[in-house]
Amino acid sequence: MTRKTSTANTQSAAMAQAQAAARPQTIEAFLAQQNEQDLLRFITCGSVDDGKSTLIGRLLWEAHQLFDDQLATLKSESRKYGTQGPDIDFALLVDGLAAEREQGITIDVAYRFFATSRRKFIVADTPGHEQYTRNMVTGASTADAAILLVDARAGLLTQTRRHAFLVSLMGIRQVVLAINKMDLVDFKVETFKEIEEAFEKFAAPLGFESITAVPISALKGDNITQRSSNTPWYKGPTLMGCLETIHIEKPINERFVFPVQWVNRPDASFRGFSGTVAQGLVKVGDEICVTASGQKATVAEISTMDGALPTAAAGDAITLRLDKEIDASRGDVLSLAQTPLDMTDQFEATLVWLHEEPGLPGRSHELKLASQWTRASITHIKHRIDINTLAHDASRQLQLNDIAVCNIATTKSLVYDSYTNSKSLGSFILVDRITHATVAAGMITHSLRRAQNVHKQALTISRADRENLNGHGGKVVWFTGLSGSGKSTLANTLEAELHAKGMRTYILDGDNIRQGLNKDLGFTDADRVENIRRIAEVAKLMMDAGLIVLTAFISPFRQERQMARELVGADNFVEVYVNTPLEVCEERDVKGLYKKARAGKIPNMTGINSPYEAPQNPDYITEGTPTSMETSIKELIALITPR
Ligand code: ADX
Repeated sequence: MTRKTSTANTQSAAMAQAQAAARPQTIEAFLAQQNEQDLLRFITCGSVDDGKSTLIGRLLWEAHQLFDDQLATLKSESRKYGTQGPDIDFALLVDGLAAEREQGITIDVAYRFFATSRRKFIVADTPGHEQYTRNMVTGASTADAAILLVDARAGLLTQTRRHAFLVSLMGIRQVVLAINKMDLVDFKVETFKEIEEAFEKFAAPLGFESITAVPISALKGDNITQRSSNTPWYKGPTLMGCLETIHIEKPINERFVFPVQWVNRPDASFRGFSGTVAQGLVKVGDEICVTASGQKATVAEISTMDGALPTAAAGDAITLRLDKEIDASRGDVLSLAQTPLDMTDQFEATLVWLHEEPGLPGRSHELKLASQWTRASITHIKHRIDINTLAHDASRQLQLNDIAVCNIATTKSLVYDSYTNSKSLGSFILVDRITHATVAAGMITHSLRRAQNVHKQALTISRADRENLNGHGGKVVWFTGLSGSGKSTLANTLEAELHAKGMRTYILDGDNIRQGLNKDLGFTDADRVENIRRIAEVAKLMMDAGLIVLTAFISPFRQERQMARELVGADNFVEVYVNTPLEVCEERDVKGLYKKARAGKIPNMTGINSPYEAPQNPDYITEGTPTSMETSIKELIALITPR
């Protein structure tokens, strides 16, 4: 039990100094070191309570990867602030680094590196609380292996199951189950076996290639680098031994994937495509292909910061000069001509929802895949996965940390692959269009067949032909405002005026449409999003038919009104905010709904217990009072028919 301190004492100052001097200070320098050792990237999953910081501190310590000054500080701080009496508190070391990183560096995943005589290691240290799933996904995306840390006293917790599931989703096949704090359960073999068996049973469907359970005490040093005399019943490897021998899968025969980051044109004589090779190999003389356009050319030169190269491989930042001019820009993906890549605009994916605001089918997001950006929405939530049982649950929306299999549709076709085939072309993120927050991470399972089998049909008569016949253009006038604000009355009067002028019109009105097309929808956020999505699509079709379409829906969410504007086209869209205050609407209460809502009989009444997000930049605002009506109608007609 005192071995830890004796390790510290036997490490001579001279040796530590020599090691510290030879130790690279950055990941780049570490990776650039010329030696024969291979590199294992791994992630540690667990919370501070499980002893994660202590474990990482301990691994760095045992691999003699601490600087002299770090050692000195650690010793003195352990005495001052540590929780381990006269012993060194390793958690202080890692937590100290964590505090540093909070002060300025932007990433939430800290990468630490160390080496033994057998291997180099990069460990992604991710915060362990449930809400930090995002960081775990980031850390796991490049890892070859994962250490799942379990507190022997607590046994398997939901969090460990979640981590195991995420780790398997991210394609990690090698797992070490570090059953920690064995000293606090008297190194009982039964406790160890119980946790090991429960985990193996849970993880059976997750497809791990290896699961190695190791009984450890990160604090006391048992089974970290030296076999512990406290666990004579344990015959497996030490934790470090395990890390040193884990099988690293090398990708074989990957197709060349080169997402173009920018077009490099320093002067008229040079034009090249710059970016980082995502996977595979390219050589001078190879024929490449721009996936979206099918254009081909031959690689004339591969240049880098350090000069020209004959070949480049995954991870290399390069500029490709081609033998002829082709059109490609940021967001294009290049492949070798003989191994082309596929495109899709609808696919199935596993989504990890990362935001407090729920994920709703039909809501429009930005999607980023490699260097490609497009608009996208969830079209269907197939099922949510219960993290404890791995059972499939039905779900109509996604909550923070939910993992669900969904169908996704994009507005633009994307170069893609399944995540199993290609981490770079099979993973994507969804970004909120207003706040720019990353709301989900996704892994593509496969393209939907309908994406390949449905093609647009060209029509002979165009919108312009229909508009010509009508003698006016098609438009969408989108009324938004609270229930009882006067949207329908205003739309109705406006339609009568337009009709009298010989214009072809139609009104889509919430109360009517909800009795037919949208009969299946209620008033939850998810249903309102779907309501507006359908209305935007129908309005677009009617406009294409040459009509002036007036829509009267509460349409309470900014995001969906923005989506409607983009779908219809900003030039064709007039957003009218009927700005009647809630008190006035409630006073009118034509349908008696506000009264019912106040009595607690309507659960999601807009303005009472469901939000209304007022337009920030509408094309027209009206007060919705009878006196303002006449002027509003005149002004609206002028807006709609500028000629
Ligand atoms: S929206 O929010 O999805 O755009 P929509 O305009 O279609 O709503 O429907 C609103 C109409 O449904 C209201 O004018 C009102 O008559 C009725 N209604 C019934 N329940 C609710 C509710 N919970 N919230 C708002 N409107 C409701």
